[in-house]
Amino acid sequence: MRPTSPPRTYRVKSFGCQMNVYDGERMAELLGEQGITAAIEGEAADLVVLNTCHIREKAVEKVYSDIGRLRRPDGTSPLIAVAGCVAQAEGKEIMRRAPAVSMVVGPQAYHRLPGMIAKAVEGRRAVDVDMPVQTKFDALPARRKVGPSAFLTVQEGCDKFCTYCVVPYTRGAEVSRSFNDLVAEARRLVEAGAREITLLGQNVNAWRDADGRGLEKLVEVLATIHGLARIRYTTSHPNDMTDGLIAAHRDIPQLMPFLHLPVQAGNDRVLKAMNRSHTADGYLRVLDRVRATRPDIALSGDFIVGFPGETEAEFKDTLRLVEQVGYAQCFSFKYSPRPGTPAATMDDQIPREVMAERLQRLQEALGVSQYAFNQASVGQRCTVLVERTGRDPGQWLGKSPWLQSVHFSGDVAIGDLVEVELTAAGPISLSARLLEPVKS
Ligand code: SAH
Ligand code: SF4
Ligand code: F3S
Repeated sequence: MRPTSPPRTYRVKSFGCQMNVYDGERMAELLGEQGITAAIEGEAADLVVLNTCHIREKAVEKVYSDIGRLRRPDGTSPLIAVAGCVAQAEGKEIMRRAPAVSMVVGPQAYHRLPGMIAKAVEGRRAVDVDMPVQTKFDALPARRKVGPSAFLTVQEGCDKFCTYCVVPYTRGAEVSRSFNDLVAEARRLVEAGAREITLLGQNVNAWRDADGRGLEKLVEVLATIHGLARIRYTTSHPNDMTDGLIAAHRDIPQLMPFLHLPVQAGNDRVLKAMNRSHTADGYLRVLDRVRATRPDIALSGDFIVGFPGETEAEFKDTLRLVEQVGYAQCFSFKYSPRPGTPAATMDDQIPREVMAERLQRLQEALGVSQYAFNQASVGQRCTVLVERTGRDPGQWLGKSPWLQSVHFSGDVAIGDLVEVELTAAGPISLSARLLEPVKS
């Protein structure tokens, strides 16, 4: 049974990438503006938004099992909205299969949630998977309260059409938000408590405004915002790594020395079949340019193992590339055939056991690389942005400029930027000694 009175409390659950998390935050703010309040941890909410991700398989099945679990012992359900990329891709199917769902809303249409809720309360179900990107941002309420590190979506969608990927279908074509909107939103984020902003886009370094200004210009202007200590951006594409953006890593102190630049595989035949439009060597040359300009930059990437047809020898090229680069951290995945993408129907799909074994070997290599990077940082002095309390009493957790997790003790507060000396390295974090708070 679906509820018939307006919801008083909500819960938004985000399952996807950072842009999906950003969308989740904006939906929460939108619901807050409607007078609906966040449900207390552990208590049932009147309205549940499942903000889904479609990037790998099982995502869809997870949505249905989550919907099932929302049913209460008395047979009633909260109002349920399915948002995010599964909503975009499978909206009508969700409505058909899951009668408990009242609303399906795509990533570019969620600003219309309030109207959909009003209808849902009257028993009218609705699907909205339009893609009016700019209208969405114009319609959303201003940011109010954020943590020390905040996300800001600057660019949506993707025109690259890698053959394995659903993003061009779920998020639509590449659209850059306007310079002025972004500067205004960044200012508000800083007023709302942010000391660090991560600029987000599926191809964030392809951001370009109507006057042809690239991401480095945006970073340059954001760096003048008083109180904004750190700027990051993710995710970038190797082909859009311009000299201007690389130079910004040298010239703009607020731009952190970290670059997430996915390559996916180390073999040119595989890269071509993926439609990545760069070779392994082309990728390495981009990294050479970056390192020549900013020698201490920390590098990160994404990898897919077991793309259709990938041989053992081709996989070894990926391992070789990992060794050559010396990544500070990475994400790696088993290839997952996605409905509607060209790779899903390619010959020579790789058996699951082979993928699992390759993933394990790759993750071992990446682990070695990350540990080595952390060990090489010991003895360095750097700033840390304090993000939360640690596990032990008096312990704090924050991030180094190179995006390493750093824990230390001392008299500080969340949101402080402090100076530390890195004293010991573990595989995924470092410990540090507090030197002094940094004046901002
Ligand atoms: N726009 C970014 C991120 C895309 S999604 C980029 O181009 O790098 C994040 C990561 O998910 C990708 O980099 C890729 O490594 C992984 N991914 C995407 N589709 C996948 C699939 N079908 N199977 C396995 N991993 C996938
Ligand atoms: Fe997907 Fe490729 Fe676009 Fe990244 S660049 S979002 S992997 S299609
Ligand atoms: Fe997932 Fe959509 Fe992000 S498919 S990775 S939530 S863009």
